[in-house]
Amino acid sequence: MKLCRVHIEPAGAETLVAAGTSLADIVASHGVDFPCGGQGRCGNCCVEILSGRVATDAGSQQLLVRKGLSPAKWALACRAQVVEDLTLRVPEREHPILTDASTFADGEESGCGVAIDLGSTTLVVQLVDLHTGRVLATASALNPQSRHGADIMSRIAFALCDRASAELLQRSVRQELGRLVEELAATGRLDEVRKVVIVGNSVMHHLFCGFDVAPLAAAPFQSPHNEACTFSSVALGWALPDCPVTFLPNLSHFVGSDILAGIEALRLHRSDKWQALIDLGTNGEIVIGSRRGIVCTSTAAGPAFEGVNISQGMRATTGAISGVDAETGAVRTVGGAAATGLCGSGLVDAVFYLLRQGRIDLTGTFTEALPGGRFPLTPAVALTQQDIQEYLLAQAAIATGFELLLHEMGLEASDLGRVYVAGGLGEAVDLAHASALGLLRGNLSRAGNTALRGAKRFLYDRLADEAEEIARLTSHFALESCPEFQDAYIAHLFLGGEDIL
Ligand code: FES
Repeated sequence: MKLCRVHIEPAGAETLVAAGTSLADIVASHGVDFPCGGQGRCGNCCVEILSGRVATDAGSQQLLVRKGLSPAKWALACRAQVVEDLTLRVPEREHPILTDASTFADGEESGCGVAIDLGSTTLVVQLVDLHTGRVLATASALNPQSRHGADIMSRIAFALCDRASAELLQRSVRQELGRLVEELAATGRLDEVRKVVIVGNSVMHHLFCGFDVAPLAAAPFQSPHNEACTFSSVALGWALPDCPVTFLPNLSHFVGSDILAGIEALRLHRSDKWQALIDLGTNGEIVIGSRRGIVCTSTAAGPAFEGVNISQGMRATTGAISGVDAETGAVRTVGGAAATGLCGSGLVDAVFYLLRQGRIDLTGTFTEALPGGRFPLTPAVALTQQDIQEYLLAQAAIATGFELLLHEMGLEASDLGRVYVAGGLGEAVDLAHASALGLLRGNLSRAGNTALRGAKRFLYDRLADEAEEIARLTSHFALESCPEFQDAYIAHLFLGGEDIL
C-alpha cells in the first residue's frame, strides 16, 4: 500500500495516509464544512492545494471554475483523493459553540454527573458536581457526522445508504464523545461520575442508539423507537467508572429529548401561564405548554437557517455575515473576519434590510433589475432571488407551525407569557427583525442552550422522574395531517407577518 504524507496549513499538522484516502477524511477535523454531505453540489468544502496533486472528477472541476477557482490549485475535499504527498491550506474557521454556565443543585446528592448535548452540529459535554451543582469542566467539539451533511436530512440520507454508513455515524459520534469525556479528566474527578445523561434530536437519538432511521425519512414518520436507552459507560469504552449512560426519550418522531430538556429547563410544565419554546432548524420544533398540558409539533423548515441551499450560505463560523445594519447595510461577521458567506442570523437580517430599504417587496421580489440578479451585501457576498425564496419557505414553515399549534390549543399569541427562542440561532438572530418579518411573534426571549441546562437537571435522581412526567403531559400535534396546513402555508409566503386564521 502506498503511503502519502499530507501537511495541513495553517495548523502545521501532518498525517500519513494511504493513497486513495478522501481529502474529506483528512480535513474534517480542521473545521471544513460539508453542507451537502459530500455530494459535490454546494462547493463549500474547498481546500487550497499548495503542493502536490489530487485525483478528482470533471464535475468538481467545473464547479470550482464556476466559483472562480482554478482546479489546479483548489479541490473540493469531498470529491478528491490523495495520490501523492500534499500540502493543503484549509480556511481557518472557528465554530462558536453555545454552552451553559447555569448551576443547579438540590443539596442531597453527592458525586459527579456528566451532561451531554448531542447536537447535529456541535457536541457539548459538562462535568457537574452534583452536591454543589457547579460545572467543573466543559468540553466541546464539532459533531464528526457533519462530514456527511450539515443538516439532519442529509445525515438520514447517508445513514440509509447501507448498514456500514449508519454504523459509521454511530461509531464516530460515540468515539468523539468518549474523547471529550477524556478531556474532562484534568479535573481529577472523573472517578466520581455515577451517571451520564444525553439529550439530542430524534435523528441523533436514533443514530447514537443504533436504531433504523428509515421511519424518520418517509410518511407516516412513525418510529417504533422513541424510548430512553441506557448503555454502560464501560461498554461504550468511555474513560469513566461503570455507570449508566442514558439517552433520554424523544417526545415524538421529530421532537427529541433536547426539547424535553428545554421544557425542564424553562419549567414549562410547572408554569401557570402558557409559554412557548421554539428551536429554529431544519426541523423547527415548537412547544406550547403550562401546568395544564403541553403540545409540541415540528415543521419542515428546510436547511436554509443552516446556510444550506443559500447560494453563499455557510454555518455561523469565522467570516459568516451574522448581522446587517437595517439602515446602512453595514455587515457584522463572525470573528470580525472578511465576509465570505452568510449564516442563518445574517440571512434574516439581510432580508429585513432589503425589505426596509424597499429593495424587495412583500413577496420577496427584487423591486428593480440587478446585475446578475444578485444584490451585493459586500464585494464578496451577494443575495439572489432564489436565496430570498428559500428564506421565505423556511419562514412560512415556522410561522405556519406556530399559528396552527396556537389554533389547535384555542390560544392567541397574546395568551403566551413568553416565547422562548432556543439554540445557537436563537442567540444570534435579531428578534425584532425576525418578528417584523413574520418569522417569530409574541413576547420573544432568548433562552440559550436549554437542552444542556435541562440535561444537567435530569442528572438528579429527584428530577429524573420528571422526564417521564413531561413525556406523559406532552401530546404531539401532527402538522402534516392538518387540513388547514396548505392554505396557511401559502398565506404565510409573504414578508411582514400577520395573522392568517
Ligand atoms: S461540495 Fe463538498 S460538501 Fe458540498
